[in-house]
Amino acid sequence: MDVHKIAIIGAGLMGSGIAYVSAGNGFHVTLVDVNEQALEVGMDRIRNDVMTGVDKNKLSLSEAQALMGNLASTTNIANAVKEADLVI
Ligand SMILES: NC(=O)c1ccc[n+]([C@@H]2O[C@H](COP(=O)([O-])OP(=O)(O)OC[C@H]3O[C@@H](n4cnc5c(N)ncnc54)[C@H](O)[C@@H]3O)[C@@H](O)[C@H]2O)c1
Repeated sequence: MDVHKIAIIGAGLMGSGIAYVSAGNGFHVTLVDVNEQALEVGMDRIRNDVMTGVDKNKLSLSEAQALMGNLASTTNIANAVKEADLVI
């Protein structure tokens, strides 16, 4: 089975790191956490990693935009899992 959509449960250190790598490799990622505040912390960490990548010329601006475009976040674990090919 081909994997296109990944649901990652937990937007902490591990989850946001896995989301960054997965989205950067073209997967459509939905990050799940228990509330919006936890999701925002995780998304902020990813944005910072993306900007660091751009600053260090590891990512072009278009790659950074594509990576961010591959990311979504939700507190609705049921919907995220239902639509996912892979759950981490
Ligand atoms: N950080 C590491 O180096 C490391 C290494 C190996 C394994 N792990 C394991 O990976 C897991 C995550 O570690 P971490 O460092 O990212 O932790 P973390 O505390 O940074 O993040 C965990 C996140 O999961 C969320 N969460 C908790 N219960 C949830 C639920 N029911 N649904 C959705 N989200 C939920 C929390 O709100 C939090 O944002 C842990 O089991 C840890 O033992 C971590």
